[in-house]
Amino acid sequence: MRHLMSPLDLSVEELYDLLALANDIEQNPGKYAHACDGQKLATCFYEPSTRTRLSFEAAMLNLGGSVLGFASADSSSAAKGESVSDTIRVISCYADICAIRHPKEGAALVASSKSSIPVINAGDGGHQHPTQTLTDLLTIYSLKGRLNGLTIGLCGDLKFGRTVHSLIHALIRYSGIRFVLISPEELKIPSYIREDVLKRNNVPFTELERLEDAMPELDILYMTRVQKERFFNEEDYVRMKDFYILTKDKLTLAKEDMLVLHPLPRVNEISVEVDDDPRAVYFKQAQYGVYVRMALILTLLKWR
Ligand code: CP
Repeated sequence: MRHLMSPLDLSVEELYDLLALANDIEQNPGKYAHACDGQKLATCFYEPSTRTRLSFEAAMLNLGGSVLGFASADSSSAAKGESVSDTIRVISCYADICAIRHPKEGAALVASSKSSIPVINAGDGGHQHPTQTLTDLLTIYSLKGRLNGLTIGLCGDLKFGRTVHSLIHALIRYSGIRFVLISPEELKIPSYIREDVLKRNNVPFTELERLEDAMPELDILYMTRVQKERFFNEEDYVRMKDFYILTKDKLTLAKEDMLVLHPLPRVNEISVEVDDDPRAVYFKQAQYGVYVRMALILTLLKWR
């Protein structure tokens, strides 16, 4: 039995197989409509979510399976003090696979150590969000045709944004990847990623503050929200929240085939006027999230 805590839990070969399966699901959804008949997915979400929880549920329903779960800690026995370890042991009696989101880093790993069913990390604090990364990789692979030879701009809250941390871990395994890390001083990438991931693996990267300076060289612009829920005080959040706003004007500096991705939810960091630009693919990205989660559920259940 395998769990998914980090995108690195899948080898490069396994990841390509998963993306190929997701592409086949997109092209031939009928082929998979009963692939999980009689199986159940539990979604245990201790933190708010729209896309991750509902795309997991849509994925299992598309595969012919059923779903159960809770959408907040308040509506589960966590409110009475139950531990994640005890909860997952119980969920293992009710479901065949579980996706868990929790505000504490490492909570999904704790759950996986006590679980008798595959556990998927659906986001653990500011740490990792591997299924968002699978979604991002599928989007890039499907729309660019490759995962190598790309200059990728990561813009916004690089300190707390777990999707950025997961994506960097995943992309350094491909050749010719270069990162442009665009953030204000206070929201720079954590030093463990700069030192232990990028420098240690000799991955080229630059750090700068002005989005306009980076724009012309980018193949992918990955915008992120300033993570309000991880700030220690409201004042700092208010000062940072509108630091970057991608507008149509700024997009004129970009390549004709650059793609704009965003894990969503968006607050202010992409102006809605950008949504009609063919380079803006963040809603398509949300759709890819369903295909890749279908592929992941099928793969983890097969390995069980
Ligand atoms: N991208 C993402 O994780 O969105 P949700 O928080 O809505 O699940």
